[in-house]
Parts: sequence; structure tokens; C-alpha cells
Amino acid sequence: MAQHVYKAKQFPLSGLKGISDRTLEMHFKLYEGYVKETNRLTEELAEFIRDGQVDQDEMPAYSELKRRLGFEYNGMVLHEYYFGNLKKGGTGDAAHTSTFHRAAEQSFGNYAHWKADFVGVGKMRGVGWAICYQDPTTGRLSNHWITLHEVGNVAGFEPVLVMDVWEHAFILDYTPAERPKYIEAFFANIEWTACDERLRRSGARGRAAA
Ligand SMILES: [Fe+2]
Repeated sequence: MAQHVYKAKQFPLSGLKGISDRTLEMHFKLYEGYVKETNRLTEELAEFIRDGQVDQDEMPAYSELKRRLGFEYNGMVLHEYYFGNLKKGGTGDAAHTSTFHRAAEQSFGNYAHWKADFVGVGKMRGVGWAICYQDPTTGRLSNHWITLHEVGNVAGFEPVLVMDVWEHAFILDYTPAERPKYIEAFFANIEWTACDERLRRSGARGRAAA
């Protein structure tokens, strides 16, 4: 069977507040690298099973590639969520009338507490991501720290708001110690309608499973 080949998506982002076009261009290139590596690893792994089994002497090389697959795949997918929840002309915090705002209130008591928790995750030391997920079965939001790209993702949960806090996401605009400034800039550019759309999709999945 032919392998599926992923294509890098295009994100018409420029002119964001506090995140320069130079940063975005470099970041798109990094993202394209994850797409390329995902395709390459998938193709290499397919070679191992061409004869119908993974031979014992192939196990070390096979295992190494399989372990890297989770890193590359999540690197690709999380960047698509991240770029997909940014837009030019953002208005800052989620509107009171938005689906996201209501979900944050229901899950955290109020939006400010949700935000304090999400920003707290974003400021954690280390290399990774802050992600607000929805549990499709309960509708509740929870914020999670993801180390690298693959450690800490919750299986079956819907990523609703995804923030890259690897230093490459802001190092051309801020120093490493200025990550809080980058987080402020991120909030200024959030595409909340994308988050609301993800919540609708997640809600539909939850109802289908019930
Ligand atoms: Fe990134």
C-alpha cells in the first residue's frame, strides 16, 4: 500500500503583534522540517515490514526510528495547531460570549483562573508546549505541559489552544528570560474562532461516544 505523504500547510500569517515576520518565516521552515521527517521516517519504517516481519537483527534500528516517529509526528501536528490558533489583528482575551470563555468558566470557575493556569504552564522551565485540552467526554478543559513534542499529550483529548514555548518560537524577538513577554504577545494574536471550532468538533466527538 502506498504511504500517505503529508504536505506542509500554508499559514497566511504576518504582521502579528510582538511576533516578527522573521520569527514566523524561521518557524515555518522548522515546521516544514517536521513534515519532511515524518514522511521520511514513515517511508523508512515501511521498508522494515516489506518482507512481512521485523527481523531480530533489525530491531535496534527499527526501535530507534519508531521512537523518533512520535517526536516528528507531534512536532508536525502541534505546529499546525499552533499556527492555526494565531491571526493578524487579534483582540486579546477570549470574548465573554465565546464558547471558549464559557468552557473556561465551567472548568475553572472563571476565565481569569483558567488564564493564570495556562500562563503558569507556559512559564515552566524546559523545552516544550503549553496546551489547553478538552476532554470530549466531560467537556472540561485542562492545561498541560508537553515536554519536547510528545511527552504529556493526553490520548483522545482535543487540543483547543496550543502555545509553542520552545525558545525558537521567540528568540529572534525576546531573550530566553523574556518568555513572559512572548506569552503576552501570543495572547494578543490568538484566533479564538479556531478554538471555538475545535470545541465544537470535540463536543461532537463526545456526544458520539456517549
Ligand atoms: Fe516550534
